[in-house]
Amino acid sequence: MHVIAFASQKGGSGKTTLAGHIAVEAERQGAGPVALIDTDPQGSLSQWWNARDAERPFFVRTSSEGLAADIARLRDGGVKLVVIDTPPAITSTIGHVISLSDLVVIPTRPSPHDLRAAGATVRICEEVGKPLVFAVNGASARARITTEAVIALSHHGAVAPSILHQRIDFASSMIDGRTVMEIGSGTKSPDEVAELWAFLDARLKGRETSPLAAASLAGAQLSGTPDSVLRGAA
Ligand SMILES: Nc1ncnc2c1ncn2[C@@H]1O[C@H](COP(=O)(O)OP(=O)(O)O)[C@@H](O)[C@H]1O
Ligand SMILES: [Mg+2]
Repeated sequence: MHVIAFASQKGGSGKTTLAGHIAVEAERQGAGPVALIDTDPQGSLSQWWNARDAERPFFVRTSSEGLAADIARLRDGGVKLVVIDTPPAITSTIGHVISLSDLVVIPTRPSPHDLRAAGATVRICEEVGKPLVFAVNGASARARITTEAVIALSHHGAVAPSILHQRIDFASSMIDGRTVMEIGSGTKSPDEVAELWAFLDARLKGRETSPLAAASLAGAQLSGTPDSVLRGAA
């Protein structure tokens, strides 16, 4: 069993959106059973799950004190992946969650505020000795700042080669407990989520995760340069 935490000090970067989407995508790709845990007192992820018809991924109510024991129980119960959403503040909760995780995903919008805020989460991961990856979220098509953000972030850790773009279906699909993969919106959003999951899955399993390898994993053409990967989605 693996544990992925979505963490970043910045509110609105996409922690809850990506946690829900990656949990559903992992189930769809056969990596389940997946259990979701919401450690944000605001409870956005649990509200999303309550609005959801599908039973999977499972949702697990827990507390900061009970988290380690509950994760152990999920492992014993045959859960294959635990996805944890965290609050947008550096609290003791975040450090505790990170210490129990195999991989920390830091969703980051390509904005100066998000880039500055990423450092605090990176420091916690380094202190606790946990691997991290940045997932650029909310990008505008062909915006130069996206490329600049990827370059800036790459100085601090791995950056997922699959960029998630700013698209209304990421927000609208979650209103009634679904995801972009489940509403048939006809955009590239489901492909972006699938690519991000393929990258995270490879990281969790310790497989080769260079941008070109991940792009080929996700079915993209090997001739695509990282730059065209960045600009690919509209
Ligand atoms: N790629 C995206 N495209 C459009 N809207 C997005 C995208 N990612 C997140 N959002 C919206 O931005 C807001 C903040 O996202 P959320 O996942 O709640 O962030 P966090 O949990 O980090 O505070 C929400 O309204 C969400 O629907
Ligand atoms: Mg949130």
